[in-house]
Order: sequence, then structure tokens, then C-alpha cells
Amino acid sequence: MNAAHKQADVIIIGAGIIGSSIAYHMSKKGISCLVLERGAAAQEATAASAGMLGAMMETDAPGPLVELAVASQARYRKLAETLFEDSGVDIEYTECGTVGVARDEAEKAALLQKCSFARDFGQRVDWIETGRLLELEPGLSPDLLGGVHIPGDHQVQSPKVALAFRTAAIRLGARFLEHTPVLRLLTEGRRVAGVETTDGSFYADHVVLAGGSWSPGLLTGLGIDLPVYPVKGQCYSAILPEGLKHTVFALKCYLMPKRDGTILVGATQEEAGFDKSPTAQGIAYLHEIAASMVPAMKKAVFVRTWTGLRPGNPQLKPFLGPVEGREGLLLATGHFRKGTLLAPITGEMLTSMVTGEALPLDPSPFTLRGHGLQ
Ligand code: GLY
Repeated sequence: MNAAHKQADVIIIGAGIIGSSIAYHMSKKGISCLVLERGAAAQEATAASAGMLGAMMETDAPGPLVELAVASQARYRKLAETLFEDSGVDIEYTECGTVGVARDEAEKAALLQKCSFARDFGQRVDWIETGRLLELEPGLSPDLLGGVHIPGDHQVQSPKVALAFRTAAIRLGARFLEHTPVLRLLTEGRRVAGVETTDGSFYADHVVLAGGSWSPGLLTGLGIDLPVYPVKGQCYSAILPEGLKHTVFALKCYLMPKRDGTILVGATQEEAGFDKSPTAQGIAYLHEIAASMVPAMKKAVFVRTWTGLRPGNPQLKPFLGPVEGREGLLLATGHFRKGTLLAPITGEMLTSMVTGEALPLDPSPFTLRGHGLQ
């Protein structure tokens, strides 16, 4: 590899949906990107993701995270068209909407809370009684205490979104080096100037850390203790002859009709380190909740199970942007349950941080200081 290949404007660590979105958005602006991935691209949390675009479903209190989620969700319809033109990949953007159901008073209270703040963010979350709920989604249990219709929470196929970002970024000149783990960040004084990998050292003006659950290890050498940790999600898929029209969710489980005809049922939330084994207990837990929402799930034909590791953190919001005192370093990690939802806005924000253009939203709640850490 000649010297020119060892240099880029931006090095992105991690080729999941977040790193790939950043590479795509930056490449569109003519920024040269080198993406380094420890394994194969998009094989961790992205591969396991259900693909929900649940700005309302996945938030429970007003604040900057809702704003970020709504802004990112709003980009998907147009992005699906642009990505198809730029990559030839159909990301299966599907406007199916979501139905949230209440199986008990606690779940009803959580849904009513969504109704109360949705309008402030330009969203609709409409409370509906059980009779109307069953008209909307006939497979639901008549024992439910009612629910909400969220007409704006849709879905995509996450691995295809990552593939589309990556394909388009490569067409625009980005380089992706898979199976190339970053061993450490290289510094010049206080500046992060590059990375050392198993395939030699690479240098750039900016290094973006988008390594999901694997991000913290690279920061310890800089004395930064990033509180990002893996949160295992188990899922299964099944064939339900009656199908579903909407994504259906309760507090701890969701069912999503996918274009391949299966129903995706997700997902547990377990802090079990980097262990990705599916367990009978985890799948049984999901199945019990799924069947309490949609009784016909008891007769659904099982297809497969899988797991993924979400990058969790105490505040359950991503780390985005520069690190004070460490020029050249940018964070884009810790998206927890919202990697797919937040990928477009993350790519756009990180690009503006590098070009110096106006940011679409205030990033300060998502910096280390915004997380109460600096
Ligand atoms: N976004 C859904 C999940 O992480 O399970």
C-alpha cells in the first residue's frame, strides 16, 4: 500500500450502519473517507436490528433525544429514493405505521405519556379504545386495555440500509477495509492524528469512533472512560398466516411484519457482556408477550432466532461530536436501541462538524459534557 493510501481526510472506525452513514454523507461532500472494520461490515448490531423507525415508539419523555429521533426519521422517505439512485439498493422503507398496545395500567400510562408530548414534536400518537384497535389490527387480543396508533413510525431493513450507504460511499470514493482491527489511536501531542491497525498505521485530519459496543477500548489509552457497554437483544422470526398490517409493540416486545413475509419478534434487553448466545428463556419470554398481544402467534411457524449487541450507556442517548482537549477525535457511538433510526442524522451531523457547516440540531446534549462526563 503506497503512502497516499495511508492517508484520508477522515478515518471512521466501524462499518456498521452508523460508520457507513457517516462515510456516505461525508463522501457526498467530497471528503475522503477510510472506514476500518474489525470484522466484516455491518455484522454486529446492524445485522440484528429490526429496522424500526420508532421516533415515538422508542422515546418516553420529551427532550433533545426526541428532537434528534424525529429529525432523523423525517429524512428516511427521501433518503430511500436517493440511496436507491446512489447505490441501486432498495432499503425496504415501508410506511406501515405502528400500533402500541396496553396490556395493563402501567403500559397504558406509558402510552398516554407519548400522546401527551407527541404534538410538541409535530408527531401524532392517538389513543384508541380496544374496539377500534382491533379494527385497525384484527389479530390483536380483545383483552387489551386499548392502545395508540402512531401513523408516522415506519420501518426499513437495517442491513440493506448499511449496504446502501456503503455501496454509495464506495462509488463516491470511500475505502472500506474489513477485517482490519484498530489497535490504538495515534496522537501527536493532544491531537488524535491517526490509528494503528493490524495492517499498519493510517493518518487523517479527523478520526471518528463509530465502533458501537467495542468503542470504549480504544479510548482507554487516552484516559477516557466511555460508559458504553453491550446490551444483548434476542429476536426470533415466524410465519403467521394472517400477517400483521402494522408494527405492534408493548413495553418489552414488538412484532414487525417484514417484506419477506415473516413476523420479526424482538427483543430482549440483557446486560450479559459480549455473550451473544440465544437462550430458550429469552425466546420463551418474548414469545409469551408476543402471544399476549397477538394470540395467533401461538400457532405461528418458527423460522429462526438471532441476537445482537446494542451499544448501551447510562443516559440511553448517543455520544456525538468532538472530545474537549482531544482535537481531531469525534464520537458517533452509543446509539443503544436507535442505531437505525438515528443513522441519517448522525451522518449529517458528523459531516457538518467536519465541514464547519451549520448543524441541523444542537449537538451539545450528546457530547461527553452533555452526558455529564466532562
Ligand atoms: N430498536 C429496537 C431494539 O433495539 O430492540
